[in-house]
Amino acid sequence: MDRRLFLGFTASTAVTVATASLVSIAAVKASGRYTANNPLLLNKNENPLGMSPRAIEAAKKALSKGHRYAGDYVTILGEDLALNEGLKLQNIGISNESTRIIDAVIHSQANKNATIVAPAITYDQAQEAADNWNLSYQAIPMGEDFKMDIAAMEAASLKIDGAVLVYLVSPNNPTGRLTPSNSIIAWIKRAPDNVFFLIDEAYHELVADPFYESTVSLVKAGYKNLVVTRTFSKIYAMAGMRIGYGIAHEEVMNEIKRYYASWNVNIVATIAASASLKDHAFFKRSFDENQATKQMIYKTMDKLGLKCIPSEGNFILHEIGMDLKPYQRAMFERHILVGRDRGTGQSWNRLSMGTVDEMTYFIEQFQRLHS
Ligand SMILES: Cc1ncc(COP(=O)(O)O)c(C=O)c1O
Repeated sequence: MDRRLFLGFTASTAVTVATASLVSIAAVKASGRYTANNPLLLNKNENPLGMSPRAIEAAKKALSKGHRYAGDYVTILGEDLALNEGLKLQNIGISNESTRIIDAVIHSQANKNATIVAPAITYDQAQEAADNWNLSYQAIPMGEDFKMDIAAMEAASLKIDGAVLVYLVSPNNPTGRLTPSNSIIAWIKRAPDNVFFLIDEAYHELVADPFYESTVSLVKAGYKNLVVTRTFSKIYAMAGMRIGYGIAHEEVMNEIKRYYASWNVNIVATIAASASLKDHAFFKRSFDENQATKQMIYKTMDKLGLKCIPSEGNFILHEIGMDLKPYQRAMFERHILVGRDRGTGQSWNRLSMGTVDEMTYFIEQFQRLHS
């Protein structure tokens, strides 16, 4: 593994970590099964199970088609996705990542000089895109316990004269919180014409809440004031393959497609994604493992008197009982990579779920740190 990547991305972290490693060789030795070159990755909200066996098989076979453009297979995947949602191919826009669609939607608002309204703590790529396209970005403070303050976001949007783009992630990253579907859906329905919604449903398939409803229902009902984004990076375990998609009214999707090359997906990822959609056993295993590991973390934190934010994603934002930097360092010494600073305060960290086995190791180390 690239050592810079392993060290946590910045030179200053690297220096701190290197110093810490020198003073704590005992902890490094104790970690045994994980090493500096093979750390336990609990930092990027990936699916720890690896790709579905059917997707791997399909990807291997697809390599023999690497000299062909992906066109027909993109259409097949689009049809599969449309069928799953009860929509038409024309409602689907596939790209090499959902982040690319997020960027395209924000770019599409640039000539309207839209203001982006988003919760203060959320996935940071929308803000990055807004900066790239010179759009102003209003970050609305979070409510109590990192709840999204929909009323405050709506009030802010109503004060803006021109075009508004609301970026809303549910379940949110890095908080894991699901915003009640009825509050999102009601807002989209009553919003004035100058307000457009980008609803990021990256963690949609992992939600267990029986009251959850995807905003795709609004696309189905004919609403033209939203785009929903989804990804194969999470439950489908294809983060490294880079494939995601958007869902919107046909007219809206046609407009968004003007802002990205809609065939910019590789044939291997496309064919593997189609196979993955059909592997229901793998889907269930991923869902169940994620539920089980989250319960393990809730129990552990509860025992230690540390708060967790209830999560509907594949990660948990939890109190760490110490400051973030020394915590990251201590975990690094045990060859575990945990989340980076995401604006949630010094005493919190976002922990991505590993397998049951991996989380057992994490819990052992976390408890030792707090004993
Ligand atoms: C809310 C959210 N949206 C999008 C993404 C990225 O998805 P993709 O890999 O399809 O770009 C992530 C990744 O962590 C995320 O948390």
